[in-house]
Amino acid sequence: MGGSEGGSLAVLTGAGISAESGIATFRGMGGLWNDVPIEEVATPRGFAKDPKRVWEFYEARRRQAGSCRPNAGHAGLARLEEILGPERFTLITQNVDGLHFLAGSKNVLEVHGSLWQVRCTGCGVEREDRTVPFEALPPRCDCGSMLRPAVVWFGEYLPEGVFERAVAAAEACALFLVVGTSAQVEPAASLARIASRAGAEVWEVNPEETPLSAISDRSWRSGAGEVMGEVVLAARSLLGC
Ligand code: OAD
Repeated sequence: MGGSEGGSLAVLTGAGISAESGIATFRGMGGLWNDVPIEEVATPRGFAKDPKRVWEFYEARRRQAGSCRPNAGHAGLARLEEILGPERFTLITQNVDGLHFLAGSKNVLEVHGSLWQVRCTGCGVEREDRTVPFEALPPRCDCGSMLRPAVVWFGEYLPEGVFERAVAAAEACALFLVVGTSAQVEPAASLARIASRAGAEVWEVNPEETPLSAISDRSWRSGAGEVMGEVVLAARSLLGC
């Protein structure tokens, strides 16, 4: 494995890494999308039809995420960034809960946006907002227009420039680590294939098999928090750090 020494690490995380912190995943048992129709709460059409309903859903998610703490999975990735430095480490997350930042990660690409950012539907201004609960729903911008959560809904583009940076990290890395995603949502899922085609090793941490298992060189069929210590050691050995 000497060829990977000095190489960089790109990580893709999904809802599964926050499961041990108490945040519900989207699919599978107890998944959010089993109880809530996606079209109603996570599409531009749903928001146009009933913004209050959409905000009630996101306010509940903000309340939940705000009461949860990062777990050993998040902490292990923050430690790897500390060891490798920002030039050799990119964390690409589909999660909107902000727990990677709370764990101390810095070089984080939130490809699906953040629960803690709001964007004005009128003037377009985007800013951090941690209010829970708002006085009235939907909340309004200073300009008078409705605010929306700055998350990516189905049918929308990813935040400008962010995905391009994720692709660049996938193409350049020696190791691509996939943690806690069912790999069913594009384009995030394709990042591991891009990395694999470019010659990176792909490792997966997930209690279940996913469409990426077939291209993974190594798999841990466990919860991220349980095995992250071992994964960190293996990554350090591969990357020589
Ligand atoms: P999913 O809910 O689709 O998948 C969660 C994955 O985590 C599953 O494969 C589980 O097996 C795995 N998992 C469960 N517990 C775990 C644990 N303790 N450690 C590691 N893995 C565990 O969530 P995502 O793949 O993140 O997008 O979903 C992708 C996107 O679909 C989300 O960002 C969201 C959703 O619709 C938007 O809202 C745009």
